[in-house]
Amino acid sequence: MTQGLILIVLQKITTTLGGAAVTALVSKVGELAGIILEAESIMKDIQGEFEIMQAFLSPRVLAEEPNPYTGNHQILESWLKLIRKIARDVEDIIDEYAFLLGKMANPESFLKKTFHNSKNIKTWNNIASQLKHVKARLEYLTVMRERYGIKMSGNGVGSSSHSSTHQLYLSDTSYSNDGDNDVTIGHEYEAQKLAECVSSDGADRAVISICGMGGSGKTTLVRNLYRKQEIIKTFDCYAWITVSKNCLIEDLLSKVMSQLDGSYEHRSTDYNDLVKRIQSYLENQRYLIILDDMWNRDFWPCFDLVFMKNKCRSRVIITTRIEGVASLAPDDHMIRIGSLSEEESLTLFSKRAFSKFNKETSTCPEGLLPWARKILVKCQGLPLAIVAIGSLLSYRNMEEQEWRLFYNQLNWQLTNNPELYHWVSRILKWSLSDLPSHLRNCFLYCSLFPEDYQIRRRWIIRLWVAEGFVEDRGTETTLEEVAEDYLRELTQRSLIQITERNEFGRTKRFQVHDIVREMIVTISRKEMFAHICNHPHITDVGDVANRVSVHIGGQVYQPGPSSQHLRSFLLFDKHVPIKWINAASSNFRLLRVLCLRYSLLKDIPDTITGLFNLHYLDLSRTQVSKVQKSIARLKKLQTLHLMFAHVSELPLEITLLTSLRHLSVSEDMYGTSISGNISSLKNLQTLREVKANKDLAKNLGYLTQLRSLGITGVVRSYNEDLWASVMKMTVLTKLAVATSGYENETLDLQNMRPPRNLEKLYLAGKLAEGVFSPICDGFQKLKVLKLRWSGLVNDPLTLLSKMVNLVCLDLYCAYDGKSLKFCSGWFPKLKQVHLGNLKNLSSLQISDGAISNLAYLELRELESLNDVPEGLKYLRSLQHLYARNMPGDFVEMLEGEHQGFVQHITYIECV
Ligand SMILES: *[C@@H]1O[C@H](CO)[C@@H](O)[C@H](O)[C@H]1NC(C)=O
Ligand SMILES: *[C@@H]1O[C@H](CO)[C@@H](O)[C@H](O)[C@H]1NC(C)=O
Ligand SMILES: *[C@@H]1O[C@H](CO)[C@@H](O)[C@H](O)[C@H]1NC(C)=O
Repeated sequence: MTQGLILIVLQKITTTLGGAAVTALVSKVGELAGIILEAESIMKDIQGEFEIMQAFLSPRVLAEEPNPYTGNHQILESWLKLIRKIARDVEDIIDEYAFLLGKMANPESFLKKTFHNSKNIKTWNNIASQLKHVKARLEYLTVMRERYGIKMSGNGVGSSSHSSTHQLYLSDTSYSNDGDNDVTIGHEYEAQKLAECVSSDGADRAVISICGMGGSGKTTLVRNLYRKQEIIKTFDCYAWITVSKNCLIEDLLSKVMSQLDGSYEHRSTDYNDLVKRIQSYLENQRYLIILDDMWNRDFWPCFDLVFMKNKCRSRVIITTRIEGVASLAPDDHMIRIGSLSEEESLTLFSKRAFSKFNKETSTCPEGLLPWARKILVKCQGLPLAIVAIGSLLSYRNMEEQEWRLFYNQLNWQLTNNPELYHWVSRILKWSLSDLPSHLRNCFLYCSLFPEDYQIRRRWIIRLWVAEGFVEDRGTETTLEEVAEDYLRELTQRSLIQITERNEFGRTKRFQVHDIVREMIVTISRKEMFAHICNHPHITDVGDVANRVSVHIGGQVYQPGPSSQHLRSFLLFDKHVPIKWINAASSNFRLLRVLCLRYSLLKDIPDTITGLFNLHYLDLSRTQVSKVQKSIARLKKLQTLHLMFAHVSELPLEITLLTSLRHLSVSEDMYGTSISGNISSLKNLQTLREVKANKDLAKNLGYLTQLRSLGITGVVRSYNEDLWASVMKMTVLTKLAVATSGYENETLDLQNMRPPRNLEKLYLAGKLAEGVFSPICDGFQKLKVLKLRWSGLVNDPLTLLSKMVNLVCLDLYCAYDGKSLKFCSGWFPKLKQVHLGNLKNLSSLQISDGAISNLAYLELRELESLNDVPEGLKYLRSLQHLYARNMPGDFVEMLEGEHQGFVQHITYIECV
């Protein structure tokens, strides 16, 4: 934790010092210049001290617990504590320094000449003297170190120095192969019993409970069932909720309702209303409800009422750690989940620890086996513990000596904690203390999200970058790319679980296991890293942390003057009034991250544009419809997120935010218009969805860092400029282009030369002459292609088949012809095909050997396709056929005469 803090401080000094802004400013501020320059020079000295400190600390991993092999660990711990205190103080000073610079850099402060008044001079003098004081304290620490002979233990145990680099730049395949496979090990009997209880004949609603200690695999067991299409499809509707300790029943019911009925948008918060709605929805349905991780019986009377006892073979599954909750189910429907056997443990462990070297066999080397067995005894058959320890060891050398030391340490850690539950968290805690400091900060940040939250990869990466957690590896790699590596490493270490991937296997969302989360919430709080407000009745937050996340009960939480020091503020409570938000934000000062995406805001409070250190501002999904000119004051802003808000136009001043990396404004067809010359936003990586105009199409070419571009309202006369601009974006991976929608405004692809890294291409609107450009071999890396309303005249597949890496193909209302033909050998990597609203399509031919890896096929609203294509029988990998609003003849054939073409498909959904 000490290193983590120092890392942040060093990163912040680097980004604050010597900016061109300072130099420019200093020339204008006369008398103040001397003080500022002095402060800068002291800061450089402090930087030097910290760098040496960092080097001194690095061979040892800073475990929560003192290392048993170091003699004077108490002195060491006290000394480290002093360092942490200083590091925190320095962080405060630097952020304050940056804040003042930000304030001065604003034009209005020059007009008012506020920096010449004596108050300002006093403030700056104060900063300089605080820095001097810190410097003296740091020097004194060095003296102390020598006086007491403080040494770090460098014996290699616990050293993770070799772990930081070898994981980097994994190939795409190892990226997508990690994760979910362990689940099949062990617990076969329990899985079978669960399936039987769920599928049994009894018409009455049945309650089934699964009881076991934290980390024993309860949720995994249910999730596996939930994923099985052949089981889930026998239900009319289903919902899964996590019943965490401090949640509101209304929120839970509202979640249930929206899962049951996808079209339910009216987010009611009224208890009686919700109860009635759900009851009437479930009345005649066969439903399946999962109540995950229930802690007590408090809500049961409500659930019992809402999940009504109809006679449709409905099922309610409860998972719990508490025996008394489990007994809500009758005895023969209670499944106790025990620990894994010795052999099962070893298999699971080996899969984690050795699969890097040999994916196929992943067996334990002979010499290590005795140590593996000893270590496993400590894990007592708990999957979570086994996976954590296995992953941790996969980062070690495969040498007996190292494993022996590891075991000795583990043993030492655990002897004083016989109690099982704490003891599991001990193991986890230990695997956490092994994390390199940069990862530690990032991982603790995950504790800010609510318990069952599926965290979006893209989102958390931007938050990490905004907080300054991510190491700068030079100009070749962006911070976001480095952050991706961090995320990958956290996955490899099994600290996070991927829950959703995109079309080609890249992580989209992930979750933190509930026990792991409980643990990081506790650690975060203890270390004053972050505080979670998740209890409606607890008001006392005080000045406890640098980051606050409000989950529920926001109104009673009072962000007072201590909020001045907050770096992140995340609001998940949807019920707090706007007045409260305004009051809260007027207390912030050094804030870098502000997320109000779940709030009721209609305007951006003026106080927000005075937060000069703000790097990340998220107002997506709010009712905000206007961005004021004063946004220009947020010179450090990297991310401005307004998706699904109602901003149709951004002010000219937006082009002054030159640090912007991600600007996401709207996600609908209309796009948001930007006036002004956008070429100044040279750091932009994401820009979506903007409304085209002639100048924009031209000036986009200056944004050579763009990774993702979404542009709408393109008319024919912009085509040439647009493609010329796109060609200059050499790192572009995602491009979405929509025309203005008028019949006559077409996209002409003749002059388009796709950037060579392009992975996703979405085109909406008529293509000139009804042809897709013949330059398909330029799309060598393209994985996803979606075409809408293209008006293609001829079968486009011959051309598209040159895109050999395509994984997902989606044609919606894009083709007017009668037949599509997939020939043998085409699209070897294609996994998903969506064909929708192709009105004239009457023949779909698939040769043997075509699209041989297809797993998902969607046919919707193909009103001329009256028969089941015979070629489906060649699609041996096809798992899911989704047919929606297909002609009656097609459905008849599917269920009758031509059933033979589809009988090998695991899951056929015809609605
Ligand atoms: C936008 O700015 C660039 C310089 O950054 C300039 O070359 C270009 O002409 C400007 N475009 C317009 C349309 O003003
Ligand atoms: C296309 O149609 C729209 C609306 O009918 C019209 O305003 C526009 O001028 C037309 N554009 C061209 C290039 O003909
Ligand atoms: C379908 O075919 C008819 C006649 O063959 C043609 O006029 C029409 O444009 C085609 N496309 C659609 C979308 O109906």
